[in-house]
Amino acid sequence: MQPRSTRIFIHPFPLPCSIRPRAPKFIESSAMASATFFILVAAASLLASFAQADLQYGYYNMTCPGVEELVRTELEAIFTDDSTLRAGLLRLHFHDCFVRGCDASLLLNSHNGTAEKHADPNLTVRGYEAIEAIKKVVEKACPLVVSCADIMAMAARDAVNFSAGPRYEVETGRRDGNVSMLEEALTNLPPADGNVTVLTQYFAVKNLTMKDMVVLSAAHTIGVTHCSSFSKRLYNFTGAGDQDPSLEPAYGKTLTTKCPTDKMASVVPMDEVTVAEFDLGYYESVYNHRAVLRSDAALLEDSLTGAYVALMNNASSLDIFFADFAVAMINMGRAGVLTGTQGEIRETCGVYVD
Ligand code: HEM
Repeated sequence: MQPRSTRIFIHPFPLPCSIRPRAPKFIESSAMASATFFILVAAASLLASFAQADLQYGYYNMTCPGVEELVRTELEAIFTDDSTLRAGLLRLHFHDCFVRGCDASLLLNSHNGTAEKHADPNLTVRGYEAIEAIKKVVEKACPLVVSCADIMAMAARDAVNFSAGPRYEVETGRRDGNVSMLEEALTNLPPADGNVTVLTQYFAVKNLTMKDMVVLSAAHTIGVTHCSSFSKRLYNFTGAGDQDPSLEPAYGKTLTTKCPTDKMASVVPMDEVTVAEFDLGYYESVYNHRAVLRSDAALLEDSLTGAYVALMNNASSLDIFFADFAVAMINMGRAGVLTGTQGEIRETCGVYVD
């Protein structure tokens, strides 16, 4: 790990605020994280809500008051049973938003295996039952009012916060889609072996910037990956039985021990030191050539994303990362949303569509 520096860094992404990032309304920092984390951006948030009239903070204040607390309480119980679902629910929201927008189409079921959830990258996504369980409780309190898509956005936010990450306010007002197609998941979810150019394109399609990408990738500070998702880096990087030269050799050796060729269903943490904690461990791993996924290692190979990785590796506090992550999550949560009279609010998230 690199020593911490007190050097002041220039932010590597000086984007005009009229374009991006749109600032969120922070309400509190995690009690478990930096006590000093508090940023007032109400004015920017107000502007952001004007720009995005359909999603808004507190959309359910009148129609289902207290729903966010209700969701949080349910999640607390769910995470007490299985703390690894925090990572699962964060990824669930991402995989939903990237395919047809954040419309809960990922939760839809199909008898003949043609829904998004049957696509290869979604086979390892976890947390469907948790969202359904929360929806059941929410339905009791406010029948046919709160969308599954909004519950997913709240759950992702709370998952981050329960992992000692930032707590930010999510915009709500999404409605649920009723179309879910396997092929769309295959074409819209970024590939685990993508380079920065490729990854940037996948994010750009969702109206997300390169900065959003390097920031959101740090979601990999929690959770695990199956060996099969990066085995090529260990055993056959160029097709000649070689290892990815960008992987630190000692760490490569550790990974081959954890992932022998006959155990591809095993999992390894993506942040080897603090797998359950939302911290800067991800950037330390990437910076030190100890990222597990190729898509994460790639971030060091581009000057802009590499600068952000270096900045975060040397950060003396979590504040910038937390603020950036909250902004990027809110940006992602706006991807292709259905609002107003579009889509529907359904009682059960995982209904069968064919
Ligand atoms: C940059 C493009 C991304 C790629 C290529 C990618 C790819 C992957 C892969 C291959 C896994 C492991 C799957 C497995 O083998 O089980 C994974 C796990 C995960 N991803 Fe990503 N991801 C990306 C971005 C994101 C984003 C934007 C988020 C959330 C904001 C996210 C959240 C997660 C989480 C939390 C896990 C761990 C899940 C668990 O423990 O069950 N990822 N990702």
